[in-house]
Amino acid sequence: MQQTFTKAMARNIFLGGAAFFLIIYLVLTVDSWRQIPIRDHASQMSPAAERGKYLMDSNNCIGCHTINGEGAYYAPELGNVYTRRGPDFIKAWIKAQPIGGYRQMPHFNFSDKDLDDITAYLQWVSRINTNHWPPNIQG
Ligand code: HEC
Repeated sequence: MQQTFTKAMARNIFLGGAAFFLIIYLVLTVDSWRQIPIRDHASQMSPAAERGKYLMDSNNCIGCHTINGEGAYYAPELGNVYTRRGPDFIKAWIKAQPIGGYRQMPHFNFSDKDLDDITAYLQWVSRINTNHWPPNIQG
């Protein structure tokens, strides 16, 4: 039997491999599109949480913080802050700023309703199924 690796064989391996991985890629993409709405439960976002998201976006909280890893690494992760600290701490903390020493958070003039809405958004974020990320409660 002849043991030569021909151009045709190389081409077939390339085309077969490319087709195989393209199929895997497409299956995973479709799976992601199906999983995301279930995991982020966006359809269950209350009007309060929507407003809280707007307030956090327009005040650039992720200019210092991260939400599920997205944002800046100056201040603590907020994706799980609701679980870590609870609603009362979050509201009291934001109202009390600026406190702390070297790394400070600015004061925002939020009303009590604003703080309720921000907390509702942080609660919604804390319920996103992130496959247990971040791995510890400190974020
Ligand atoms: C200029 C940077 C900066 C901005 C902007 C900022 N923060 Fe902070 N924030 C901090 C820092 C720094 C800390 C941690 C301070 C410390 O640990 O002493 C903090 C802590 C927090 C905590 C407590 C976290 C914990 O685990 O104890 C919450 C909640 C919080 N910020 C919410 C917000 C929200 C909501 C916004 C936007 C409205 C915001 N922050 C904007 C810097 C910022």
